[in-house]
Amino acid sequence: ETIEWDPEQAGKGEFDHFMLKEIHEQPTALTQALEGRIDPEHGRIALADFEPGTFTDIESVQLIACGTSYHAALYGSLVLNQAGVHATALLANEYSVSSPPIDDDTLVIAVTQSGETADTLNALRQANAEGATTVTVTNVVGSTAAREADEALFIRAGPEIGVAATKTFSSQAVMLTLLGQRIAADLRGEPPADLETLLAELAAMPDAIAGLLEDSDADAIADRYANSQSYFFIGRGLGFSVALEGALKFKEITYEHAEGFASGELKHGPLALVTPETPVFAVFTGEEDEKTLKNAEEAQTRGAPVIAVCPAGHRAVDVADDHLEIPEMEADLAGLLANVQLQLVSYYAAELLGRPIDKPRNLAKSVTVE
Ligand code: G6P
Repeated sequence: ETIEWDPEQAGKGEFDHFMLKEIHEQPTALTQALEGRIDPEHGRIALADFEPGTFTDIESVQLIACGTSYHAALYGSLVLNQAGVHATALLANEYSVSSPPIDDDTLVIAVTQSGETADTLNALRQANAEGATTVTVTNVVGSTAAREADEALFIRAGPEIGVAATKTFSSQAVMLTLLGQRIAADLRGEPPADLETLLAELAAMPDAIAGLLEDSDADAIADRYANSQSYFFIGRGLGFSVALEGALKFKEITYEHAEGFASGELKHGPLALVTPETPVFAVFTGEEDEKTLKNAEEAQTRGAPVIAVCPAGHRAVDVADDHLEIPEMEADLAGLLANVQLQLVSYYAAELLGRPIDKPRNLAKSVTVE
């Protein structure tokens, strides 16, 4: 007798889909990403190839990427901005027509899981040709981006099979946080004041995510709001990049309409779309949460159910119709925890709808054409 052997099936272990497996691999992925790279006890970042002083001559940073990697790049650009560094996230496919000026003081960071995305490689080549210093933050050792950039920083997330990127987003964001703090320290000549808290909380992230995965109500929330007309995701600052990623994940695998907005932008147009049929997932990351709550309430007044993604005891819990809980974090890492909850909501919504979660129609894991 022969047994049908499907290596992909075997690789899923206890999970029904690679996506769910990869969501659950995030604690391990982050442990691997951080291994030997942070020293919370002494408040030090230890990135081989990026010793203190590497970036002293850099004046501005451009982060280039597509898709989910672009949302990680946006997250990274905000980490840099908040640390006092000139940084902009740019869509790689727009770069040839709209890149800001580059000179040899410019650092260009290509963020790409696969290291093979044509749009991102084209932008990287343009940056190289124009004299920028280039770094890629990638998952794949030996990828084209890793070969062509001046330096590579590997996220060590392990293989990601699901077309919708999950664990690699978290690992990219964490590595960009470390790289961003390294750059900021070089530019200022001293480490950021709150680096010890950040490193301690980064070290605590794997356990925080493991706990969140165990207790998540995302399946019940997905069930409660199934069959809505549109799904909106709002957030501020780092939470804005998470809102964009939450919406992208949702549309990729559920085929339902979803949009991410900066919380404050809701009133400048999107509010016209808000009805009882448009649940609003509001991400609270400690960045002017009162304003985000006010924006969420404006949607709620128009009948939209609001799902607050925030720690227990947050004021938003009393106002919102539903709650997705995330652990408390002092440093600016709450967005990454919120993102894991939103990954789960997308997954369970797609499962309810019977979608082919790991291989959504019309999409490819790596797009090697322009
Ligand atoms: C494709 C995938 C996305 C991914 C994007 C960028 O569109 O479907 O999930 O985010 O490419 O891929 P990269 O490998 O450059 O991160």
